[in-house]
Amino acid sequence: MKMPMQQCLVDDFEVIDNVHLGEGWFRLDIEAPSIASTARAGQFVQVRIGSTDDPLIRRPFSIFDVGPEPGPDATMLRLLVQRVGPGTTAMMQLSAGDRIHLMGPLGHPMPRPSLGEDGVLLLIGGGIGVAPLYFYCRELAAEGSPLKHQVLLGARSSALLIGIEAFHKIGVETHAATDDGSCGFHGNVIELLEEKLASFSDLGQVSGIGCGPHGMNLALRDIAIERDLDFSISLENYMPCGFGACFGCVIEGPADQPLRYRRVCVEGPCFPVRELPEKF
Ligand SMILES: Cc1cc2nc3c(=O)[nH]c(=O)nc-3n(C[C@H](O)[C@H](O)[C@H](O)COP(=O)(O)OP(=O)(O)OC[C@H]3O[C@@H](n4cnc5c(N)ncnc54)[C@H](O)[C@@H]3O)c2cc1C
Ligand code: FES
Repeated sequence: MKMPMQQCLVDDFEVIDNVHLGEGWFRLDIEAPSIASTARAGQFVQVRIGSTDDPLIRRPFSIFDVGPEPGPDATMLRLLVQRVGPGTTAMMQLSAGDRIHLMGPLGHPMPRPSLGEDGVLLLIGGGIGVAPLYFYCRELAAEGSPLKHQVLLGARSSALLIGIEAFHKIGVETHAATDDGSCGFHGNVIELLEEKLASFSDLGQVSGIGCGPHGMNLALRDIAIERDLDFSISLENYMPCGFGACFGCVIEGPADQPLRYRRVCVEGPCFPVRELPEKF
């Protein structure tokens, strides 16, 4: 389901906390009521690093959570960040009282599948993909949604299963897969998904949303296409601007639709697998 574009704010906001979680991961809490109160799961913000005015020097981050609860009274925006380069290193050094420049919320929310009473939505994540999936679960809880959902999270080892505690805390059924077998299923999250799918008698009652590293997303698309599953995948393509101006994030659109190329930042970032090209 595509939602109408909402207002996108650009401003400086105050950092309230920066919680270091180990292994180069941290959670930034930012007082940003104008963004937090309208943000929906699957949307992202662009963070400007440093003092440049160049709109292309921004970095995209999924909204991990808003507080105290998702909805119009939310004032706090939370980002879950993995340090990988200069921008995220600068963000890791921010502390309470510092200002951070944000643009958002950007992109479309993740879809809500319409499933019957017996339907189950599988949320499949790896790496930084856990961030939007957690916000999705928080939204479902805040709305009192009857949609049954389970989370499948993959990482190389238990130390890298960042965010799993957060899912447990809000009572979501969460299954882990680790490459080295140090927690949960011994194997990758796609193998865990295969095992899970085999336990359903009617795959027509199963929907899925995936968000993870490129390799995971490709494998997920292949499985969903092969089995004709109603799955969507949220992409994390490199995004120079994040608001549709540069075409630096495009993927090929479906042949039967008017747009030859689709900007992941504007038309996405989440797409039904049937609309994804073989390579993306
Ligand atoms: C829609 C979206 C949502 C995102 N959400 C999050 C999030 O919630 N938490 C988080 O930690 N990160 C997230 N990212 C990734 C984040 O934007 C990058 O890690 C960040 O831009 C890196 O900036 P840097 O200056 O630290 O490193 P850079 O020097 O820019 O990059 C360091 C390394 O990471 C690679 N890289 C940079 N961006 C990406 C990307 N988008 N995909 C794959 N590889 C990349 C570069 O090629 C390079 O090898 C998201 C990206 C997108 C597009
Ligand atoms: S990042 Fe510039 S158009 Fe998508």
